[in-house]
Amino acid sequence: MLTIAHISDLHFGREVPDVIQGLMAALAQVEPDLVIISGDLTQRAKVEEFEAAKVFLQQLPYPYFIIPGNHDISATDMVERFFRPWEKWQQFVTPNLEPVLQTNQYIVVGINTARAAGWYFDWSRGQISPAQIQFVADTIKPNSENKLRLVVAHHPFWLPENAEYRDVVENRDQAIETFDQAGVDIILSGHIHMAYTQILQGIIISHAGTTFSNRLLESHPNSFNIITGDRKQLTISFMEWQNHSFQLKQSKNFVRISNNWQQV
Ligand SMILES: [Fe+2]
Ligand SMILES: [Fe+2]
Repeated sequence: MLTIAHISDLHFGREVPDVIQGLMAALAQVEPDLVIISGDLTQRAKVEEFEAAKVFLQQLPYPYFIIPGNHDISATDMVERFFRPWEKWQQFVTPNLEPVLQTNQYIVVGINTARAAGWYFDWSRGQISPAQIQFVADTIKPNSENKLRLVVAHHPFWLPENAEYRDVVENRDQAIETFDQAGVDIILSGHIHMAYTQILQGIIISHAGTTFSNRLLESHPNSFNIITGDRKQLTISFMEWQNHSFQLKQSKNFVRISNNWQQV
C-alpha cells in the first residue's frame, strides 16, 4: 500500500526546531514511500534560509518531491524578483521547478503557481497558465493506467469558509475541467496554513497547514497529512502538533466510484 506524507509551508527562517524533531519522529512511524512538499520552503528567499532548507532536505531519509511557493522568490530585491526569481531555488533546491515523478503505483506532476507579479493587487496570489494545465493533462493521460494521479501546486484550488478572504489560484475553473478529463485523483496544496480536504468535480483537494514554522493562524496548529491507499480508495490522516508531538487529529476515507471520488 502506498504511503505519502504531505508537508507544506516549511518557511525556513521561521522554522521551529522542536517541531522538526517531532515531524521526523512521526515520519519514522509511518516510513513514507514519498514526502511531498507543497511550496513556501523559505520565509524570505534568503541565502541562509535556502542553506538551512538544503540541509533539511539532504537529511530527509525518504524520497521527496518539491515545488516552490510565493515565499521562495524575493519580496524585497526587485531586480532578483523580476529578472532571476528562481535562481536561488535552482541553485539550492533543484533545477526543475515542475518535476514529474512516477513509479508503478503513482504519477505526480508538480506545477509552479507562484508568480513575480500579476494583474491583481495581491502578488502572493498564484496562477496556473493554460500551458501548465495542458502539461498536466498531457503528462498524466498517456502514462497513468491505474496509477494514482496526483498534482502538486502551492496555491489553493478551493478555500474553506474561514479563508474566503484569500483567492483561489487564477484559472482554477479551466484547470479543474481539464484535470477532471485527465482523471486527476488528488491535488495537494498549501499556502493558507490550514489543513482541510474538499471534493471538487470528483477530484480530492487536500491541504496541509504549515508543518513546522511559527507562522500560525489562530486555532490552526502545525500540521501535515498522511495519505495511504491506491486509485480505488484513499485515507487522508490529519496530523496535528499537540503537547510536543504530532498526533492524529482525524482520518477521512475516500472511494472512487465511476471516476469520481467520494468521501465515505
Ligand atoms: Fe506559506
Ligand atoms: Fe504561500
